[in-house]
Parts: sequence; C-alpha cells; structure tokens
Amino acid sequence: RVSNPARGKRVLLAEPRGYCAGVDRAVETVEKALERHGAPVYVRKEIVHNRHVVETLTDRGAVFVEETDEVPEGALLVFSAHGVSPAVHVSAAERNLRTIDATCPLVTKVHVEAKRFARDDYDILLIGHKGHEEVEGTAGEAPDHIQLVDGPESVDAVTVRDPSKVIWLSQTTLSVDETMETVKRLREKFPTLQDPPSDDICYATQNRQVAVKAMAPECDLVIVVGSQNSSNSVRLVEVALGAGARASYLVDYAREIDLTWLEGVQTVGLTSGASVPEVLVRGVIDLLAEHGFGDVQSVTTANETLVFSLPRELRDKRQ
Ligand code: F3S
Repeated sequence: RVSNPARGKRVLLAEPRGYCAGVDRAVETVEKALERHGAPVYVRKEIVHNRHVVETLTDRGAVFVEETDEVPEGALLVFSAHGVSPAVHVSAAERNLRTIDATCPLVTKVHVEAKRFARDDYDILLIGHKGHEEVEGTAGEAPDHIQLVDGPESVDAVTVRDPSKVIWLSQTTLSVDETMETVKRLREKFPTLQDPPSDDICYATQNRQVAVKAMAPECDLVIVVGSQNSSNSVRLVEVALGAGARASYLVDYAREIDLTWLEGVQTVGLTSGASVPEVLVRGVIDLLAEHGFGDVQSVTTANETLVFSLPRELRDKRQ
C-alpha cells in the first residue's frame, strides 16, 4: 500500500458493529432481574463474552458462577445468551432454582434443529469451536447424534454411521468463509451432506464480517473492540487481516491500544463485536482523535432493526 500524504489521517467506522439483538436482550434480562428481584441475581457463565459488561453487572449485584451447584438452593439463576444443555436445566430444577433463560433465540433455533434431526436419526456434524459454551449447550441436546467439527482440519477425522443421512449445523458466531471451507471439505467426503434449514451463523455475525470486509482493504490498521473469549470478535480480527488490513488487534478498552500501532498509519478501521457496548468504541474514537485521527467516516453495509422481546418471566404485564 502506498500511503498518500495528501490525504489526512482518518478513521473508518464499521456499521453495523457492537450489540446484536441477542446480547441486548441478555444484558437487559439481568438488569431487569436485578430491578425486580434485587441482588443477588446469579448468572451461569458470563452473560455475554465481554469484560466490561460482566464487571458492570457484578457491581450492580449479579453473581457470575460456572455451574448450578455454586448457586444456593432456591435462588434466582439466569442462563447466559450462549444457551445451555438440557442437563443444566435438570440440575437447576434439582436445586429448586428459579431460572430465567436469556439464551439468544437464534441459538435456541439451532437447538431445535439439532433435536429435530436427532429424532430423525441423522448424524449431525456441528461445526464450531471446541470448548465454547454455545457448542456445549447445542451438543448436549443430542450427544449421541452430534459430533463437533472444529474447522477444515478436523474433517479428516469425521466418521458417520450412514453417509446418506448426514447434516451439518453450526455455532452462530463463526467465520462465514472458514465455515464454507469446512462444509466444502465435508461434502467432498459425504456428497449428500444436507445443509441446515436456514443459516445458523446469525445475521449479526454475518453483518459485522461484511462491514469489516468492505473497509479492511483501505485500512492500515483495524482495531476490533471485544474480549479475547468472544468468538465473533476474534473472527473480526481474522476477517480484517484476510480482507487486506495490514494489521489488526483486539482490545477490550482504549487504554490497551499501543501507540506504536499508529506509527505510519493513515487509515484506521474500527469495529466491535456483538457483545460490546458502544461506550467502549467511543473511548477508542476519543483516543484516536487525540492522536490526529479526528476525521471519522462510517462504512455502512447493512441496517439492523431486529429486536427480541425479553424472557417471559420479565415481560411487563401489558406486553
Ligand atoms: Fe444471538 Fe447472534 Fe447475538 S446468535 S446473541 S444475535 S451474535
């Protein structure tokens, strides 16, 4: 890339970025539960994968736990946006916990697909990242029928009972391109492999990747705001690099930006993962402005209007 000294320093701001409908709903679920029932409200796993969100809710009285057995009998427990397996519902019921399920409806959709194809006795190849909470929840719906495929390199090891009865499903927050590569390899192995009834990679994941792809070729540096354990945020860094950004970094906060990253840079791309509050992006915009990047231009590739209603237990009576 030849830098153009006639052009000033600028920031390209990806649109859409940040909160998706499922994260918005999950965070509001914990806030409303605290308002209605008072602290403590227990939450199994991080409600969404973002440090700032978890710390803010902790300050307000949410108590994050790894498992249901850490929650006192009879207490109120919220399940995170990533979903839980049926075994977790059972163990919560055994402890008489009152539960509110903040699982994103688009994750629930994948659970429903998994149950349906397991009932029809398919081998289900679940493309996703080993150890991620979402795939643990989805796989738990039908452990005897589901096997995890963690990227294209895992395809060689896959075996099925009946190659004519195989379907793939996926985690909602994967790289679209890498998933298509995995599916291509799976289909070479199992030519009659069936596709999911509808996209499992959710609209928000796809839209954020499309926006990054549109701006990355013009960027010397792409900063992604998001946490290390946020799958969709990590994917945005990969997509930025794959689409031509010279460098790309993931940061939780503006203060993590190393100023040497800005040396010789004219165009900074900025985006954020689906679990990231806009205030954190504002912090980065302010820091960049202090260092000569005051010109901010939006790169808009989609407008999002989807909103999910709160879990039944928290809806206002009039709703
Ligand atoms: Fe749901 Fe997608 Fe957000 S699955 S929680 S809308 S990233």
